[in-house]
Amino acid sequence: MEDIGRVLVIIPTYNERENIESIVGRVRAAVSEADILIADDNSPDGTGKIADGLAADDERVHVLHRAGKEGLGAAYIAGFHWGIEHGFDVLVEIDADGSHQPEELPRLLSALGDADLVIGSRWIRGGTVENWPINREIISRGANLYARIMLGLPVRDSTGGFRAYRATTLQKIDIDGVSSQGYCFQVDLTLRTVRGGLRVTEVPIRFVERTHGASKMSRAIMIEAFQRIAQWGFAYWLGRLTGRGRR
Ligand code: GDD
Ligand code: MN
Repeated sequence: MEDIGRVLVIIPTYNERENIESIVGRVRAAVSEADILIADDNSPDGTGKIADGLAADDERVHVLHRAGKEGLGAAYIAGFHWGIEHGFDVLVEIDADGSHQPEELPRLLSALGDADLVIGSRWIRGGTVENWPINREIISRGANLYARIMLGLPVRDSTGGFRAYRATTLQKIDIDGVSSQGYCFQVDLTLRTVRGGLRVTEVPIRFVERTHGASKMSRAIMIEAFQRIAQWGFAYWLGRLTGRGRR
């Protein structure tokens, strides 16, 4: 296997006090050679303090304290910059709440040998979702179908948040131009990667709904995604229908 270089696993947190210790331990055990960056938005529940304790015990655990809740997208972009500045070659996204299985990370990383972005996918053969209420499943499947058709994206889980990027991918796709805040951020980066002519691979994952704490999914996050994808889709289809989108 190609050596993909130094890996940084970024864990965004907002009120994940009950989950942070477990996820850091599992990531550490699953990919012992990786560094970990917790990107905390000044969680009122004290997650940032617990993170500082974990960092004090392990020199390869780091904490990025952010001033306040600015959304998943902003936290990840700050984390990507931190990682690139510190010389990492691979930047991983993973939720803090145990929905993504760190034990599956070696499989994502080995797929990055032939890809510029690897997405852990719930909605391809072999992917599973456990304990999700039916309405969440409908929203996720619907959002993915919508994004796929509106944007012509050859990806089944463009909203998924368990991913591995090459640093070179993030450098090519202008992450500073990304203003998507919520989970739409995931679609935004997928779109930029595909439009940039880079290689995206999906590998099946097991997604398990959290047992501690609460989801940050909100109406505002859904509306943002719906509106932005409509805008991008309009431009995409207009280009295709007038022939300007063809290469
Ligand atoms: N720093 C920071 N700031 N972290 C955040 C913020 C924020 O504003 N909002 C959410 N997070 C963190 C959470 O603490 C958690 O670690 C992770 O982002 C995912 O948040 P959840 O609230 O657990 O997301 P979900 O389970 O509803 O959504 C899942 O599905 C989405 C849609 O498919 C996740 O897998 C998302 O990544 C995915 O986009
Ligand atoms: Mn979750």
